[in-house]
Parts: sequence; C-alpha cells; structure tokens
Amino acid sequence: MKRITSVLEVIRARRSVRHFSDREVERDIITKLEEWLEKYGPGYFKTGPKFRIIKASDNDREKLNGIISYGIIRGAKNFIVGRTKKNLRAFEDFGYVLQHVILECTALGIGTCWIGGTFSKSRVKQLIELEPDEHIPAIIAIGYPSENRDLKERMMRKCVHGDVRKPWRELFFADNLFVPILAETPPDPQAYDMALEMLRWGPSASNHQPWRVVKDERNGAYHFFVRRNSGIIYKILHSILQVGNIQSIDMGIAMCHFELAAKELGLPGQWQNSPPAWISDLPDNIEYVISWMTNDQRERECR
Ligand SMILES: Cc1cc2nc3c(=O)[nH]c(=O)nc-3n(C[C@H](O)[C@H](O)[C@H](O)COP(=O)(O)O)c2cc1C
Repeated sequence: MKRITSVLEVIRARRSVRHFSDREVERDIITKLEEWLEKYGPGYFKTGPKFRIIKASDNDREKLNGIISYGIIRGAKNFIVGRTKKNLRAFEDFGYVLQHVILECTALGIGTCWIGGTFSKSRVKQLIELEPDEHIPAIIAIGYPSENRDLKERMMRKCVHGDVRKPWRELFFADNLFVPILAETPPDPQAYDMALEMLRWGPSASNHQPWRVVKDERNGAYHFFVRRNSGIIYKILHSILQVGNIQSIDMGIAMCHFELAAKELGLPGQWQNSPPAWISDLPDNIEYVISWMTNDQRERECR
C-alpha cells in the first residue's frame, strides 16, 4: 500500500473507523507502532504515559470488542491501551502522543478509533498492570477498515455529527475570546490559518471540539484554551469522576495537529507556557493550556 507522506493529506484522510475487516495488522506494522509509541512518548509536557498493544486472538476477539466498546466497535483485533498518572497535563500528553501514532496509522491505511467513554475500565484494568495512582484515560482500536461501513457505524457518525466541525467563528479568536477570526476560504495554504484548519479537523470526544485558540495580534502567539462543558450534571461528574479530563485529551490532539501542520508548512514556532495578561478574567469553564510562540516576521512578510 502506498504511504501518504503529507501530514495535511493524512489529517484530511483520517476519520474514526468503528467496523474493521478480518485482515490482520501485519507483525512488522505492530512493531512500527511500538517504535512510534516509544518515539513520541513521553509527550510534550514530559508526563510519560505508558502504552501497550493488545492483540485479541480469534477466540476472544468478539468478547474483547464487547468489553471494550459495548458493541459499538466491531471486528477490531488490536487495541492500544494506555495508562498515565493524573498529573497536571498528563491527559494532554496522552492525547498528543497517541494522535501522532494515529496519524502514522492513517498514512499506512490503517483505521483507528479513540474510545474514551464506551469501554469498561474495570475489565480493561484486568488486561494491563496498573499502579495505584494510574488511570486509563482512553484506548484506541486499530485495524484495517471494513469495506462496507454498516448501518451501526453510519448511525454512530450521524449521532455525533462526525463529518462536521464547528465554524471558525466559534473556535478561533483575535486578542481575546470575543472577537472571532474570520477564515479565508480556503485558508491561506502557507500561513497559520492552515494549521488552525488542520486543528479543526481533529477528533474529539463526542465531537465536542473544546479547543479555543486566541491569536495575539501583537506578537503572533497562539494561545490555546479548553472550554469545558458547564452544565451542573457535568460539573458533579467532573468533580467525582474527573470525566472532564477527556477534554484534556482533545487538547493534546489539537496540539499534535497544529504543530505537525505548522512544521510541514515550514512555519517557525514552538510551545511555551506564556498565558496572556487577561487570563484572570476567564469564565469558569475556560482554562488556559499552552501557547504556540511564532517567529512572526515571516508570516507578516507573506501578507
Ligand atoms: C478522547 C476521545 C474519546 C472518544 N471516545 C469515543 C467512544 O467512546 N466511542 C466512539 O465511538 N467514538 C469515540 N470517539 C470518536 C469521536 O466520536 C470522533 O472523533 C468524532 O465524532 C469526530 O469524528 P471523526 O473522528 O471521524 O473525525 C472519541 C474521540 C476522542 C478524541
């Protein structure tokens, strides 16, 4: 199979696959996945998530699919199971590392699906050894996509509106969280607009797209925020079960897409903890995560 080499193409090609074919993922590809997990860990924030690839034999395959996805994922033979401590930014790293590996899979024609909610944590815990302060934030199903996307898969995509994303005006802002950046259509292929567009097509739990990015027009920095759900039931669940952390995984995924796109476009920049001065005025459900500092000269010259 021909490997897709452009990150932008890979990001556009990726979608969640929930129905897998019988074809085995070859041993050398599994070895590559293990190497990539090694290469992209310990994550940008250096929290060091640990991963293992689990293979289901034909006998326990359907059982495992059942345990893991309550029937939503079908036919997967391999799963990446990860564990991490609940340190600050550990879930961002979890998303950041695994999304790199997911994009590598997509480039090779291998289907993937993040599974954050629809798996039994207690059953998966029996498959890997956990230290007392470790958690399994999510797992990934991997395999070759089935040729026929069946009704169940199509219904799931419809339920979460998997093929659509929020418009730019709800996600990307200039100088504060009130003034939207309006997208050029199509976005300027050589500028950070394209990196934002690539971020926008990232996967997120229930397709909530919690990322909000504010461009600082004075120094060209891009400040990344997470917008958590604010309903009362969610707040209770968040405080008891820490479910909101799944949106921190989404933020790591956003960082991965933005950074890879910027690198491929040759746009200079790096991550830095550099919150804007107005951060003290943020609403309760919005939290600062990280900033991408650009060397803005080049972008200004291009405009
Ligand atoms: C952290 C995370 C958890 C997810 N959990 C599930 C899940 O439990 N079950 C499922 O079917 N899809 C799950 N998804 C997939 C999302 O529903 C999917 O990414 C989103 O609808 C966008 O569709 P796309 O990935 O095809 O672009 C998850 C995605 C992420 C990033």
